[in-house]
Amino acid sequence: MTRVLSGIQPTGEVHLGNYLGALRQWAIDQHDADAFYCAVDLHAVTVQQDPAHLRVSTLGTMATLISVGLDPAVCTLFVQSHVPQHTELSWLLECTVSLGELRRMTQFKDKSARAESGEEAGQGGDHVSAGLFTYPALMAADILIYDADRVPVGDDQRQHLELTRDVAQRFNSRYGDTFVIPDAAIPTVGARVMDLQNPTAKMSKSAESPQGSVGIFDDPADISRKFARAVTDSESEVRYDPDQKPGVSNLLSILGAATGRSPADAAEGYHQYGALKSDTADAIVALLEPIAAKKAELDADPAELARIIAAGADKAEAVASVTLARAKEAMGFLPKSLETEARVPMR
Ligand code: TYM
Repeated sequence: MTRVLSGIQPTGEVHLGNYLGALRQWAIDQHDADAFYCAVDLHAVTVQQDPAHLRVSTLGTMATLISVGLDPAVCTLFVQSHVPQHTELSWLLECTVSLGELRRMTQFKDKSARAESGEEAGQGGDHVSAGLFTYPALMAADILIYDADRVPVGDDQRQHLELTRDVAQRFNSRYGDTFVIPDAAIPTVGARVMDLQNPTAKMSKSAESPQGSVGIFDDPADISRKFARAVTDSESEVRYDPDQKPGVSNLLSILGAATGRSPADAAEGYHQYGALKSDTADAIVALLEPIAAKKAELDADPAELARIIAAGADKAEAVASVTLARAKEAMGFLPKSLETEARVPMR
């Protein structure tokens, strides 16, 4: 059976970009694959986090994952730091990845520039952690430790996925077949949802203006207001053209993603921006409504959420420990018990 793995940082509220670019696909994939999904709290601490906030936010993210339709009876849902094998494999991979490869990561360049200017949440200015630099090795470990065949992500993770493939291929050619080479699964529509106020920047949790980002639990009136105020252009033609008309094109991508059409098809029949904005808002409100209802149910039963989180960690660790043992053996680490010399087989 195909294995799927993906992760989301448990910082701030999950937004429409996360949902259309990734989470919606996770929910589909759980039914035809052996799926592992995690809240990547170890990635979150590459920038400074308030401890109390991180705890609450990690719990909230786990509840959100269930609310978007991930079923803990069908897939494995867990918190990354509950499975310590990720960090151990990450070190092994850090010792195979080069400084040059890490330096080329555009997300590191962007995030470190923001951290240096003190813009990154919680940063005191000009502090760039070593963890932010080695972040892609931990992400590669997250993926390779589950022998994942497929990784559903938004477009901004493409380069990290390419690096993961390179790391796995290099490891396999140095030490023998150890890791499955994963493919990125990036949706055709919705892979890059842009900020409503600044449509040349992707929608993100650290957006300059909260009006630019739609949280999946925003109330319907707020969602309508944010779309009504979305930045467009001074023309009036509704046409999909991301270079010339980034604001309108973003609305068309969102409407297309919400209604199962291409952005160009979604443009049909619109002659003015007002109608496009209000129809897009209505489609998103309808899409998000059941998610908020499910979240309210979960919030009423914290013991059930705690049980799900603990069970997920056990299921994940059972798989991760086998792959880690295989990788360590391949690299020549001395086993604790010298009788267990047999090579741990690949899945
Ligand atoms: P994160 O937490 O930034 O985002 C979670 C997922 O949402 C997607 N996404 C978007 N998609 C479309 N439009 C947007 N504006 C948008 N913003 C975010 C992301 O592509 C991602 O799929 N490094 C990862 C987390 C991670 C991970 C992993 C992912 C850690 N280990 C292993 C996959 C596999 C990140 O920071 O995602």
